[in-house]
Amino acid sequence: MEEACEIIQNTGLRGVTIASTKISDVDGKIGKLVYRGCLAKDLAGKATFEEVAFLLLYEKLPDQAELNAFSEELAKNRELPQNIFAAMAAFPKDALPMDVLQAIVPMLAHHDPGVNEHNQETALKIAVKLIAKFATIVAAWDRIRNGKAPVDPDPSLGHAANFFYMLNGEAPEDDLAGFFDAALVLHAEHSFNASTFAAREVASTKAHMYASIAAAVGSLSGALHGGANTRVMNMLKDIGSVDKVEAYVQNILDTGGVIMGLGHAVYQTDDPRAHILAPMSQTLGERAGDTSWYDLSKKLELVGKAAFKEKKGREIYVNVDFYSASLYHYMGIASDLFTPIFAISRISGWSAHVIEEQFGGAAAKPALYRPESDYVGDYCGPDECAFVPVDDR
Ligand SMILES: CC(C)(COP(=O)(O)OP(=O)(O)OC[C@H]1O[C@@H](n2cnc3c(N)ncnc32)[C@H](O)[C@@H]1OP(=O)(O)O)[C@@H](O)C(=O)NCCC(=O)NCCS
Repeated sequence: MEEACEIIQNTGLRGVTIASTKISDVDGKIGKLVYRGCLAKDLAGKATFEEVAFLLLYEKLPDQAELNAFSEELAKNRELPQNIFAAMAAFPKDALPMDVLQAIVPMLAHHDPGVNEHNQETALKIAVKLIAKFATIVAAWDRIRNGKAPVDPDPSLGHAANFFYMLNGEAPEDDLAGFFDAALVLHAEHSFNASTFAAREVASTKAHMYASIAAAVGSLSGALHGGANTRVMNMLKDIGSVDKVEAYVQNILDTGGVIMGLGHAVYQTDDPRAHILAPMSQTLGERAGDTSWYDLSKKLELVGKAAFKEKKGREIYVNVDFYSASLYHYMGIASDLFTPIFAISRISGWSAHVIEEQFGGAAAKPALYRPESDYVGDYCGPDECAFVPVDDR
């Protein structure tokens, strides 16, 4: 047998530029996030999710007439085919919501006669359908698993308010819908993160939008990506009270664990989105007369950062998932829906990327992704292994 081959340690494509994009930019050094030339922090609270989805898909902010038409188109596409509800009703009630979402996406393709038309116009239409339907799927699954009938969407409500309506059967108060809308805006797009890369990789094969988006949903579900927000909430519940934060953090760091919601592959400063989500969490806590989840988060941020610095000799920062956990909790949303909610928003960015990957013109010359790997298995040298028939082994 040959000597062991050298194993490449620097994996994960960190620092490797794989494509050009006009959709978004993250400057990790200064904590700047730009969607098609607009700062995400300026959009949150000022532009609705519908405006931002339009911006991502059509490369400009809509004027009023365009926004009205786009919002109407979304409202018209919110409903799901009846047999999708029937399929969901047949799933085990403890199926993970992200798995349900990932399973339903390709099922929607069965109901789309345009699925194999490979052109930008059709891709845009499918993007609108998916943006509209993601919220319906997530809300319907939550009701079905709890033994309740799904609630039909209300076309008079905006995307954020309608989600709560479909989830709870009643429209939310305006400011709660406004906070949720801002959270959707902040989660809409984030350049070539793992799930977006997954979507673009599948799109690069010329697979259709549904197949590309299903891959992205799977990627987002992971604990190191979108799955972190649910795990932040679990962590807060495990800690229980502010006086237990120090011991909890020390134990995590001593046992080689990670504090969910801290750290980021790109940001070398606090995630700008976290600073917008945190005050919203505080406000909803104050309104509920119970700031304990916000207080616990704040203490965990301070203690976690200090303990990490002490142990590793460098800084760590909060990411978007850290304060979205307590925020969504205050909104009365079940913690295992936090990552699906991320997807309800990120579908807008993913679909823009699929379109850019396949039809991007100057921004992205379509090409099939096909990276290299170094084979470090047995017989990695020049001598191949002779085949031995099963009877002689
Ligand atoms: C997001 C994440 C994967 C980015 O990681 P990264 O910058 O590539 O850094 P690495 O995973 O290579 O970690 C570098 C070191 O910091 C440590 N570290 C990173 N994030 C940490 C965290 N949240 N808590 C404790 N330690 C952490 C790692 O254990 C590693 O330690 P080592 O050098 O002793 O092995 C990582 O910070 C993480 O796991 N965070 C928690 C999950 C999370 O919140 N994900 C959502 C991201 S938006």
